Amino acid sequence: MTTTHAKTHGTLHGKVALVTGGGRGIGAATAVRLAREGADVAVTYVNGKEAAEDVVRRVEALGRRAVALRADSGDAAEAAGAVERAEELLGGLDVLVNNAGVGVLGPLEDLSLADVDRVLAVNVRGVFLTSQAAAARMRPGGRIITIGTCMTQRVPGPGGTLYATSKSALVGLTKALARELGARGITANIVHPGPTDTDMNPADGPYAAAQAAMTAVGRFGTPDEVASTVAHLATAEYVTGAEIAVDGGHAA
Ligand SMILES: NC(=O)c1ccc[n+]([C@@H]2O[C@H](COP(=O)([O-])OP(=O)(O)OC[C@H]3O[C@@H](n4cnc5c(N)ncnc54)[C@H](OP(=O)(O)O)[C@@H]3O)[C@@H](O)[C@H]2O)c1
Repeated sequence: MTTTHAKTHGTLHGKVALVTGGGRGIGAATAVRLAREGADVAVTYVNGKEAAEDVVRRVEALGRRAVALRADSGDAAEAAGAVERAEELLGGLDVLVNNAGVGVLGPLEDLSLADVDRVLAVNVRGVFLTSQAAAARMRPGGRIITIGTCMTQRVPGPGGTLYATSKSALVGLTKALARELGARGITANIVHPGPTDTDMNPADGPYAAAQAAMTAVGRFGTPDEVASTVAHLATAEYVTGAEIAVDGGHAA
C-alpha cells in the first residue's frame, strides 16, 4: 500500500540507489532497507529474475520506484552499463552498493584458471568498473558502499585463497576511491559481513556450526543486520575509506 507518509519521509528521500545482486540475500535485504529509508532502488541479477522482481514489488509496496536489471557483474560492458541504465530509468544516482559476489572456496590445488578468472571478474573487475561508472555520474553527496568479507580481516582456516584475494582487493579500492572522490563529497566504505544466513552460506549448511563458533556471539548474522549498517553508511557524511565489520566478532 502506498501512503503519503511513505513517499515524503526517510533519510534517503529523493535519492536513487543501485544494489548489484539485489535479488537475494544481503543485496535483497539492502535494497528493501534503502527503500524503507526513502530511496528509489535499482537491483541487478543474473539468473534470479523472479527473485529480483519480487524485490521490486517489495520496494514498490513501500511507495518507492524500483527496477530489476539483468546485468552480469562478470561482464565488463554489463557491469558498467547497469549504472547507466539505473540512472536513466530512475533519474540519477546517489548510492551504489557493490554487493554482487561469488564465493569459490576450496583447496589451492583444486582452483582452476576458470575459477580464478570468474571470481576476479565478478568480485574485483566488476566492482571496479561499476564504481568507475558510478563515480562518473554520481551527484555530490554520493555514496559507494562495497560488501567485502570478514575473511579479509581473519582467514580462519584453509580454502579461502581465491575468495580472500578477491575481496581484499576491494579494501584497497575502497580506500583509493575515498581519496579520489572525497573532494566531490562522495564517500566510499566497505562492510565486512561475517557468516550471514543466505543461499550462499546457509545457517544450516554443513560448515555452519564451525563458522558460528568462530564468532564472538556464537551465531550467524542475518541479511538485515548487514543491511542496517549499509543504510547507515548511505547517510553518514564523515565516514569514508572505512572498513566496518558486521561479523559478530569474527575478527576479534
Ligand atoms: N553470506 C555470507 O556469509 C557472506 C559473508 C561475507 C560476505 N558475503 C558477501 O556478500 C555478498 C552477497 O552475498 P549473499 O550471501 O547475499 O549471496 P547470495 O545469497 O548467493 O546472493 C548473491 C546475489 O548476487 C547476485 N549475483 C551473483 N553473481 C552475480 C553477477 N555475476 N552479477 C550480478 N549479480 C550477481 C545473485 O543474483 P542471482 O539471483 O541472479 O543469482 C544474488 O542476487 C557477496 O559479495 C558475498 O561475497 C557474504
